[in-house]
Amino acid sequence: MDINTLARPEIVAMKPYVSARNSAAADGILLNANEAPFPHVDDPEWQRLALNRYPSPQPVLLKTRMADLYGVAESNVLVTRGSDEGIDLLTRVFCRPGQDAIVECTPCFGMYRIAATIQAAKIIDVPRLARQGFQIDFGQLEQVIESQAGVRLVFLTTPNNPTGDLITREALVRVLEACEDKALLVLDEAYIEFCTAESACSLVDKYPQLVVLRTLSKAWAAAGVRCGTVIADAAVIGLLQRVIAPYPLAATAIDAALQATTGAAVVRQQNFVSSVRQGRADLQRFLLECDWVKEFWDSKANFILLRVADAVALTDWCADRGIRIRDFSSQPQLEGCVRLTIGSREEQAALKTALQSYGEQK
Ligand SMILES: Cc1ncc(COP(=O)(O)O)c(C=O)c1O
Repeated sequence: MDINTLARPEIVAMKPYVSARNSAAADGILLNANEAPFPHVDDPEWQRLALNRYPSPQPVLLKTRMADLYGVAESNVLVTRGSDEGIDLLTRVFCRPGQDAIVECTPCFGMYRIAATIQAAKIIDVPRLARQGFQIDFGQLEQVIESQAGVRLVFLTTPNNPTGDLITREALVRVLEACEDKALLVLDEAYIEFCTAESACSLVDKYPQLVVLRTLSKAWAAAGVRCGTVIADAAVIGLLQRVIAPYPLAATAIDAALQATTGAAVVRQQNFVSSVRQGRADLQRFLLECDWVKEFWDSKANFILLRVADAVALTDWCADRGIRIRDFSSQPQLEGCVRLTIGSREEQAALKTALQSYGEQK
């Protein structure tokens, strides 16, 4: 499979920008990037992180850390400003405005559509099957990939946001086979740490049409750091590197991402994941007792989607008690739906109190 034939020709033909940090070593007397020789802020952190200097475009330590974390080679890794940037880069590299298309299966994460709209790419929706627990309509999806011209990116999410369900390995392989020579399958695994399912990162070697997105924003408790990783064939990584900003990650973010994935933070991550799983099971048991909850979906992530008679009233009720939940009721197929994040034990107790009182006044 020749990845270059899927990319926008102007991106393949373009001579990429070469930054100072990319064209020379970052030691010695640095007079090649028009930086200041020392910071103006009298704080040891500024010295330690050399904040007067441009950071490394793809810091070796961080790349190695992410490659180790996700069990892949460094050549298959691009570190980005969150997965949001990965989604944006993929769309910009692979979709010709007005001609090419992305495929999504709604309800799903909203940024796939936004990135496509900004790029003027077409959006083909293969809606999930609401009556079958929001299962993906794989038959329809394969048909779209095979028959529709210009499909370049197929976005799938496992566990899915907001429905929380998983894609089986068997189904994934079917879609990968349908994508061969035609499109890239972008598998967004933002929430994969919260379940026991195996990541698809190890399949990247076998399927050059597979791109996996991982993030430090969820289980790694570092959403403010803005650090995501694109895992893909080296040819895909090379193309994304042509369009990514010269210095995408702030030095402070690089440092924070390294801190968030080492030592005690790794142990805390594991404890957090198991507490989320317990909290999720606890909230599911609680919701079963609420006769005013019409239905909720079994989730493998750190949230639960549920349906009630009046999602706006429930969202307002919680907001009046200082608790923010997410109203999804205006989205197709999600009438009456809200999404609850599994918080700390105290936060969950407060949420349950608010839900209890909501049920009692009904
Ligand atoms: C499925 C999914 N992918 C990606 C993201 C964004 O991740 P990041 O914070 O790494 O940009 C989110 C955020 O909620 C998400 O739900």
